[in-house]
Amino acid sequence: MREMNKGLVSLMFILYLCNVLVVLKLKAVYGNLTMKAVLYTPGDISNMRTGTVAKPAAEKSKVLIRTYYTALNRADTLQRRGLYPPPPGESDILGLEISGVIEDVGEECVGKWKKGDRVMALLGGGGYAEYAAVEEGLVMPIPESCKFSDAASIPENWLTAYQLLHFLGKVQSGEVVLIHAGGSGVGAALIQLSHLAGAKPFVTAGTDEKIKKAKSLGARGGFNYKTGDFSDWVESITEGINSAVWARK
Ligand SMILES: NC(=O)c1ccc[n+]([C@@H]2O[C@H](COP(=O)([O-])OP(=O)(O)OC[C@H]3O[C@@H](n4cnc5c(N)ncnc54)[C@H](OP(=O)(O)O)[C@@H]3O)[C@@H](O)[C@H]2O)c1
Repeated sequence: MREMNKGLVSLMFILYLCNVLVVLKLKAVYGNLTMKAVLYTPGDISNMRTGTVAKPAAEKSKVLIRTYYTALNRADTLQRRGLYPPPPGESDILGLEISGVIEDVGEECVGKWKKGDRVMALLGGGGYAEYAAVEEGLVMPIPESCKFSDAASIPENWLTAYQLLHFLGKVQSGEVVLIHAGGSGVGAALIQLSHLAGAKPFVTAGTDEKIKKAKSLGARGGFNYKTGDFSDWVESITEGINSAVWARK
């Protein structure tokens, strides 16, 4: 009888161990297929929450990035309110730019990306999540001297500002650059890039506090457009000359 009990106990122990192993295996497989993300139902900030969603994969010419940092742009706030849907086929998770490291590389990738590379990327959506799958052409290396936290605002915000100032505006040293919404994300980048180019950034903004902040970033002056018409002020800073970058064709 005692022998039988011993055998039964051993059998139950083995079954228990098997159960534990199955649960661990399921967790490993399931855990690898899912990730945490910031989710929302259209509305205000209280409609945001974290949840678990399917993890994207590095298919074809995409790389999989483990997200370290993401950014907040006007487009994210509009999308969260239900006013700016993502383009067809893109993730409906918020977040247009990220920094992080390469986790996996698709079989059709022709770039030199490899696991562990420090990168930043422009996304159609999906930045507010642990992982993002991105076309490799939208991925850029992060210079060693640049922090992950800074890099996350470059692909969308800073490159938009750079494109405006240099590709479209063709700014020259000494020119006056008039920046509307000087308290915005793009405006803050434009002020600093104009300063770096040797130009003279001036801003308009809706509050004195934003103008103060703009000046701390390098703006030569600012005008609160809620206090009057800014056109006379523009005349005074350009001395009547049609030299503001934005006035060019
Ligand atoms: N962020 C990007 O990467 C990116 C890329 C492409 C295009 N854009 C466009 O560039 C503009 C600025 O984008 P952002 O991300 O820099 O925006 P942001 O940081 O949210 O700033 C938007 C600014 O717009 C002004 N504003 C005027 N009316 C407003 C309203 N009804 N609601 C909210 N803000 C209002 C506000 O300045 P005042 O209080 O001074 O009026 C505010 O500081 C947007 O039109 C955006 O679509 C942005």
